[in-house]
Amino acid sequence: MPAPPASHPPPAPEPTAAGGGRVPQHIAIVMDGNGRWAQRRGRPRTFGHRAGAKTVRLCVRFCLERGIRALTLFAFSSENWKRPQEEVGALMNLFMRSLDREVDELHEHGVRLRFIGERAHLSAAIGKRMDSAERRTAGNTALHLNVAISYGGRWDIVQAARTLAQAAVRGQLDPSTIDEALFAQHVELAEQPAPDLFIRTGGDRRISNFLLWQMAYTELWFTDTLWPDLDVAELDRALVDFAARERRFGRTGAQVAQVGGA
Ligand code: FPP
Repeated sequence: MPAPPASHPPPAPEPTAAGGGRVPQHIAIVMDGNGRWAQRRGRPRTFGHRAGAKTVRLCVRFCLERGIRALTLFAFSSENWKRPQEEVGALMNLFMRSLDREVDELHEHGVRLRFIGERAHLSAAIGKRMDSAERRTAGNTALHLNVAISYGGRWDIVQAARTLAQAAVRGQLDPSTIDEALFAQHVELAEQPAPDLFIRTGGDRRISNFLLWQMAYTELWFTDTLWPDLDVAELDRALVDFAARERRFGRTGAQVAQVGGA
């Protein structure tokens, strides 16, 4: 089996914001509420998705300005394939058009694009654009922008288990050596720090099969604001709330105070 990349490095001390608080290195977002936003305006749900694409731009700019190193967006879940065919088609078209329009500018700003999820389910046209965007931006370091399309946290865990099982069958891996560290090297985003902060818009308080393995110790933040209405002031509120949280990673508060949370 090829040597796997270093997996989910332990959280390094987070950089400090102008206000003195810690800044998350990696934010993961469930962008919920596009459909309701459109319906409240008497428009089709797809109108809300198009408005949502503008909020994606706002979030990328926000992360670049605040020094956040990674942003992972849940654009389309494994379960979203069950939506009406017309909505699925409109979303796929939107992803394709967004890739055609945005990659140049993302590249200019030093953004590295990465797609996670079951690529075999996507059309060849989207797959080609994803490959090309990933190759083109591979050397960038200002921000890792990970887009989850046809992604499910359970799928991710299963594909990691399958990879390890196949290696064991080939005689390249002793199953007794499988531990959390090795397993973590085979889930998506293994080479990036785990998300520090999870944000979900749209009022529901759940993770909905997002990065189940990667978010074991992620701080959760929810807002009733619908995705197209999210603005910089609200994102800053999430950061202020995050900065005030004590992250113990299983230790006691006294231990954390002693070692400074690292
Ligand atoms: C959830 O809102 C949103 C989605 C399933 C799609 C998210 C897609 C975008 C924001 C478009 C742009 C994305 C990229 C990466 C270019 P919902 O439809 O479930 O809303 P509802 O809960 O109000 O019905």
